[in-house]
Amino acid sequence: MGLLAIIGGSGFQRLPGLQVSEAKSLDTPFGAISAPLVHGRLAGHPVLFLPRHGEGHRLPPHRINYRANLWALRAGGARRVLGLAAVGGITAGFGPRAFAVPDQLIDYTHGRAQSFHDDDAVAVTHLDFTEPYCPELRIDLLRACAAAGVAAAAHATYGVTQGPRLETAAEIARMERDGCDLVGMTGMPEAVLARELGLCYASLAFVVNWAAGKGEGPISMTEIEAHLGFCAEQSESILAALAALAAGSGAP
Ligand code: HPA
Repeated sequence: MGLLAIIGGSGFQRLPGLQVSEAKSLDTPFGAISAPLVHGRLAGHPVLFLPRHGEGHRLPPHRINYRANLWALRAGGARRVLGLAAVGGITAGFGPRAFAVPDQLIDYTHGRAQSFHDDDAVAVTHLDFTEPYCPELRIDLLRACAAAGVAAAAHATYGVTQGPRLETAAEIARMERDGCDLVGMTGMPEAVLARELGLCYASLAFVVNWAAGKGEGPISMTEIEAHLGFCAEQSESILAALAALAAGSGAP
């Protein structure tokens, strides 16, 4: 099944419970990764960890070198990649502190490098992306949530916006009409780049605010921080269960 890598988002500069064995700075053909790649053990099982926003959360979503990050994870031996995502909730059932394992996405980002095949010399490839997430990892994630006693929605569409600003109420209303349940800023191009590299990629999303126009008044950073802290704590047991599942299925 292969080594599991975890990409940490907001609230996950470090991975709770991770015993670090080494952290390696890496350069790739696509430039530098967000932070040194951490090799360690979670609940006794080997994992890789990379904080997407870099040390000290200094990289905004549109400045992250997604290509370098995915490339480095694969070079480090990862075959399965979990992207953690703090998101806003749009539809009923996705209020703050809800967890979801999205099964679809809509990409509203622009100007981000979306492919490893930008080179003229390479024949154009059109990748199937009907199901943007890896079904095996989604199933394991849902099992890990159940094992940790955390209710998680098995169906949710994640709309990925450019950021770094939050959306307007009209933008969120349009996204809802489009069918989005969740809104975040980093789900793409991470998912498609993983697919290009043949990595089994899925996302664990947790809601840290009602999206613009869905709650009462403006979005408060204090409220986001409080929900983020709660979700990070809940995630610790989900991730430990996931690492154990990966190991139990014959992973190295
Ligand atoms: N919008 C976009 N990204 C987010 C949000 C949001 O409301 N909350 C957390 N990440």
